Amino acid sequence: MDKRDIEEIVRNEIVKSVLDSQEFIIAGNWKMNKSKQEVISFLDDVANHDFGDKNKIIIAPPNPYLYLFEEKLRYSKVLYGVQNLFPKESGAFTGELSYAVAKEFGAKYAIIGHSERRTLFDECDILVSKKVRICVQNQIIPILCIGENLDQRRSGDYRQHLSNQIREGLIRISGNELQDVIIAYEPIWAIGTGETASPAQVEETHMFIREFLVNEYGNDLGKDIPLLYGGSVKPSNVKELALAQSVSGFLIGGASLEASTIIEINDILSNK
Ligand code: PGA
Repeated sequence: MDKRDIEEIVRNEIVKSVLDSQEFIIAGNWKMNKSKQEVISFLDDVANHDFGDKNKIIIAPPNPYLYLFEEKLRYSKVLYGVQNLFPKESGAFTGELSYAVAKEFGAKYAIIGHSERRTLFDECDILVSKKVRICVQNQIIPILCIGENLDQRRSGDYRQHLSNQIREGLIRISGNELQDVIIAYEPIWAIGTGETASPAQVEETHMFIREFLVNEYGNDLGKDIPLLYGGSVKPSNVKELALAQSVSGFLIGGASLEASTIIEINDILSNK
């Protein structure tokens, strides 16, 4: 056996042990997509599918479909959440969704501060931090999204930008409440563009974020906050990305729309 064969065997063993043992979060962000009929057929396909016990599947549909999720996923292990919510219980906030309604329909997660909300709807860190706060106060797990644009990546300013977004986003959260937060790193230049960050870039950035979390919030809390990667994740690249250090799972847009693709991604991350 030559050196290359041995390296290949060692690498396969590492891949196997990571995929066999690590629990991944697979979160789908449907954005403004899907008809009612398409949602029903997706739910019929996933509701009774055996995803195994290792990974956590979460889907965030457009709000009107929450009632279908509640109905069809009542006895399923598939979890769901919302793509945004407003930090008030009720009142004169035209067009907004309250955490109370989201909760009533069984949403357990909320994507907060997605880059599309920040750039297209001018969401600032202050509003994002209020949304994170209302989630944590009401037992909805926020998936706080952070990410740099292409200029920030090229200029090298992205580290500063990411640490600011985390610090500001979590400013209303303290101590043990951090156990109820998920962070998703989504470089804007990789969202919906087909251009994924390379596994090396993901690893470097996740390690930086992990170090920042440990320094900022202490080892006990900082080391355990789940850290997702998002941006053009699909079956063909998910395995390589899963091997990057400090990746706890994925926030997936386009590739989360088909039940078969979510099942395929779960199979890959379960080493099936
Ligand atoms: P994408 O979207 O997977 O389609 O790039 C990811 C996201 O916006 O969360």
